Amino acid sequence: MPERHPPPAIAEAVTVLKHGGLVAIPTETVYGLAADARNPDAVRKIFALKGRPADHPLIVHISGADRLAQWAVDIPDIAYRLAARFWPGPLALVLKKRGDVPDEVTGGQPTVALRCPANALTQELLRQFDGGLAAPSANRFGHISPTTAQHVRDEFGERAPMILDGGPCTLGIESTIIDLTRSPARILRPGGIGIDQLRPFLPDIQAGGQADSPRVSGDMAAHYAPHTPLRMLSRGQLIEAARGQDAVVLCLDDLPHGLVGLAIPGDAATYARELYASLRWLDRQQAAQILLERIPQDGAWLAVADRIKRAIVGSSPN
Ligand code: TXA
Ligand code: MG
Repeated sequence: MPERHPPPAIAEAVTVLKHGGLVAIPTETVYGLAADARNPDAVRKIFALKGRPADHPLIVHISGADRLAQWAVDIPDIAYRLAARFWPGPLALVLKKRGDVPDEVTGGQPTVALRCPANALTQELLRQFDGGLAAPSANRFGHISPTTAQHVRDEFGERAPMILDGGPCTLGIESTIIDLTRSPARILRPGGIGIDQLRPFLPDIQAGGQADSPRVSGDMAAHYAPHTPLRMLSRGQLIEAARGQDAVVLCLDDLPHGLVGLAIPGDAATYARELYASLRWLDRQQAAQILLERIPQDGAWLAVADRIKRAIVGSSPN
């Protein structure tokens, strides 16, 4: 096979990572803040930069299912079948960890979350790096996840790490996380892969974490939040509430006359892709409140509804 020459940015990112530094990486879901998952000092830098509590575990990003056994033990056959169907893609698998996976990555838990992201640059980076990258979303703890390189710069300012710019994320909300260490398997965080897609593989899969489930920081009520207080209202209520008030709005399909804000086409995939960038824009307007038009309640909107619910709690002033 001819020798491959990676683009300069990837070669530089590999060098930074090999030396224990951080690199912001594009994925199809959101940008990640990556470090060598085998290097505890490097992983600690992620927590320091994000301001994230040290006991919150990170997802390890790998180049494919052939790497699972480097991180996990007792891997059930279903893990390989799910990976064959959904990887690269927005599905993170929680498995029993190998003894040599650093506690810094797993938050001291006996499990590890693994995912193969679908982004050409990051795929190439993983191949050249030839290892696993621990990467949470590249935002300050509790804030809105970044879906462009500029969002990462906005989050960290002068402290921003090297950023691999892969353009805007195509899905726009975080991966589905499923716990395969319990029976029946459980969805810990809804995301790009819906329960209907998983049921053919796991007929008795459970939705929603429980009190005894492993810590998932996206599982805390307040998360993914703008600074401006956020409320969700029906379209009629929203028009009423916004009139004459210091409010910006996020509507479905079109912006009612006379209101300031944004409208996103009312299909779940487009809404998911644009949600975080929209919340960031609305937050920057520094209005007294952000009003969201109520979204549809069907299954396709589940992951979006989950993020909005947490953003509302996270933005509340008390
Ligand atoms: O789409 C994504 O998953 C993005 C991109 C960058 O890949 N990453 C992401 O990472 O959302 P983060 O850290 O913001 O959220 C990952 C979630 C956290 O809530 C964490 O608690 C959970 O994964 N997690 C990680 N390891 C786990 C484990 N062993 N058991 C249960 N939950 C785990
Ligand atoms: Mg996050």
